[in-house]
Amino acid sequence: MDTEKRLVSAHLQGDEELMERSIRPKRFEDYVGQTNVTDNLKVYIQACKMRGEPLDHVLFYGPPGLGKTTLAGIIAEEMGVDLRITSGPAIGRAGDLAAILTNLNEGDVLFIDEIHRLNRAVEEVLYSAMEDFALDIVTGKGPGASSIRFELPHFTLIGATTRAGSLSAPLRDRFGILAKFELYSEDELAQIMRRTARILNVEIDGESTRMLAARSRGTPRVANRLLKRVRDFSQVLGNGKIDPPIVESTLKSLGIDELGLEDLDRRILKLIIEQFQGGPVGIDTIAASLGEERVTIEDAYEPYLMQAGLLHRTLKGRMASINAYRHLGLDVPKSMMPAEEQLTLGE
Ligand SMILES: Nc1ncnc2c1ncn2[C@@H]1O[C@H](COP(=O)(O)OP(=O)(O)O)[C@@H](O)[C@H]1O
Ligand SMILES: [Mg+2]
Repeated sequence: MDTEKRLVSAHLQGDEELMERSIRPKRFEDYVGQTNVTDNLKVYIQACKMRGEPLDHVLFYGPPGLGKTTLAGIIAEEMGVDLRITSGPAIGRAGDLAAILTNLNEGDVLFIDEIHRLNRAVEEVLYSAMEDFALDIVTGKGPGASSIRFELPHFTLIGATTRAGSLSAPLRDRFGILAKFELYSEDELAQIMRRTARILNVEIDGESTRMLAARSRGTPRVANRLLKRVRDFSQVLGNGKIDPPIVESTLKSLGIDELGLEDLDRRILKLIIEQFQGGPVGIDTIAASLGEERVTIEDAYEPYLMQAGLLHRTLKGRMASINAYRHLGLDVPKSMMPAEEQLTLGE
């Protein structure tokens, strides 16, 4: 399967950018769930506004598609400042970062996505920028080298990463606020889809919304993608209204099962079960066997497989659960059966 066409893909697909702009919440009142993060942020934002100060630097971490970029936009909007978006891999040299920083205005929000992918030299420039709002530029080399200090506006850095652990300690320590993003409940996903459906002007009934929410892997980006694809099917095959039969046939043609698993999810579980007797097996072995990147499996697939109770992470590696065998319709090895079931079988 084409990586970019996957439902869980972190990259925007086709005409998604246009659609994103219209459905991405711009205020807290439209931002569903994630209250552990937003409740505190609202307090900090209000306090900063009362003092007339910029917000402390914020680190967002959690799987892709959960609303990190969206929330950065909302923070800038609420603070009444401009948002500048860039990413770790896009800032190749210290000079690139210096150019971005010197162009910010007082209080602006700088959002750096995939901040764990900044290179060392750039990261070091960021330290003094975050801490002292200053830029130390070194000129010359060796004993003749000297450094000039430039003042920077007081800005707020919002960094986003899939895992807080992938950040260097000195960088992590410079964030005043750390916010962990969790997968969404089905009710929250349904609420998000109802809003998106209103904006896209599509009719969808309650049962169809529930069916889609249950297959959205706890991820708003997946929920919105599913909704959009179902809308396409309803226009071509039906009368434009989304109902359960349309949902069923769309999911079937996309290869998405009752739990929202797609092809790669099932291949991961099957591999662990069929080639490694259910595990434990190391993540690098899994990635190599499937010809996938380790980070793709870790960031985009594992969080949901674990939440769904199909996969366990242990110190020795990944293990498939009894539920994984059952979901794939495979025989559960006797040794994995709970004690009572083993007894009944033995009789
Ligand atoms: N809490 C939320 N409420 C409503 N929609 C959301 C929420 N979080 C994310 N979305 C939707 O999901 C999409 C992906 O969110 P995004 O902020 O790009 O995720 P991330 O940056 O974490 O990968 C956005 O276009 C937005 O429409
Ligand atoms: Mg993002």
